[in-house]
Amino acid sequence: MRMYDIIEKKRDGNPLTEKEVNFFIQDYTKSLIPDYQVSALLMAIYLNGMNEEETFNMTKSMIDSGDIFYMSGINGRVIDKHSTGGVGDTVTLILGPMIAACGIPFAKMSGKGLGHTGGTIDKLQAIKGINLELNYEEFINNINNINISIVSQTGNIAPADKKIYGLRDVTATVDSIPLIASSIMSKKLAIKSDGIVFDVKLGSGAFMKNLDDAIQLSNELVRIGKAYGRDTTALITNMDEPLGYAVGNNLEVIEAIETLKGNGPEDLYELCMALGIEILLLSGKFKEREQARIQLEEVIENKKAYNKLIEMVELQGGDSLYIKDTQLLDKGKYSMEIKSKEEGYISSIDAEDIGKASLILGAGREDMSSKIDLAAGILLNKKVNDKISINEKIFTLYTNDKPSLLKAKEKVEQSFIISKKANNNKKMIYKRIV
Ligand code: URA
Ligand code: CA
Repeated sequence: MRMYDIIEKKRDGNPLTEKEVNFFIQDYTKSLIPDYQVSALLMAIYLNGMNEEETFNMTKSMIDSGDIFYMSGINGRVIDKHSTGGVGDTVTLILGPMIAACGIPFAKMSGKGLGHTGGTIDKLQAIKGINLELNYEEFINNINNINISIVSQTGNIAPADKKIYGLRDVTATVDSIPLIASSIMSKKLAIKSDGIVFDVKLGSGAFMKNLDDAIQLSNELVRIGKAYGRDTTALITNMDEPLGYAVGNNLEVIEAIETLKGNGPEDLYELCMALGIEILLLSGKFKEREQARIQLEEVIENKKAYNKLIEMVELQGGDSLYIKDTQLLDKGKYSMEIKSKEEGYISSIDAEDIGKASLILGAGREDMSSKIDLAAGILLNKKVNDKISINEKIFTLYTNDKPSLLKAKEKVEQSFIISKKANNNKKMIYKRIV
């Protein structure tokens, strides 16, 4: 088999066989095929697409390139949750304890965040003493004891995806639905949960910018998941404005804790509820949506979910004072409050610009080697459709890097659009795909 022939075949719009897909994935992972040939093939895939069978075969081959993690040691069905990535997304820190408090195991292996803000693991680093690198046995034992553990992903999951994603990133071939679907699924399916709930983000701060693409991606994720015997559901959710008010690691940890105490932002709470209902249904312990919702509301009201987070932090060796007294979390040496120069209603807040501003302040990673400033971020005072008057506070910036303040300020200011009328048709959940 020759790589040249595979490139030519895809260039001419023909589907690749399972053998051909396996050949380029496995040999590229072993560096037996040069970057320039795989780049050419990726561009041909980008332009001509892949059919369902090719996408499935690509996913399978990427899973086979690395390690598999088994969850069979956990009592009860394990339902994983995955977000395609948004701005200010603190959901895992809230949803995990909620699910666990409902008596359903929540086992999360989380990757390092890339982009706007850190991932869940970066956020948990703010808690002194917490061990996020439990060995596999401790991880499973903790879940069997208290229904929850969140750890940093170790081992070698889908190394083929890591290499191919790196290449896509520099060859303008990220935005391809079959490539995105196989990339996400190769990592998700390597962790052998019983089911997966996807939060497919749609809007200015997400990969998917229009509903048709988001539906197509969701269909692919659900189809591949089911083909692998996993119960899979996807929700397409709003990422036109940042989720909640906080963007940035420590700020989001505080927002998550407040949400667990019942004082969270409406959109963030609603999203956690919607995803939680899907997880409880897939767990098999709940049959009715209404029953699942009532249970989730109850664990917020009676503080069982909040206490579950404390329990998890303590069992992983962390100092739970950082949860009980969020003043202990660093907010950075510098901050800047910005006031509105106009009056009216907020008609939009561009989530992508807010994400970029938080990156400027130091909240995220430009690449895998960059260091995160956990204190850095943006606290919004307003959300879309809120009324604003002249000189009213609109947002506050936080950082340890003083020179970044002015650059970030400009970016955040341009992200807010103020108009005379509220538009009032804001929606959190667009669609459910099963
Ligand atoms: N997230 C992934 O893991 N892969 C993609 O290709 C895009 C988003
Ligand atoms: Ca947030």
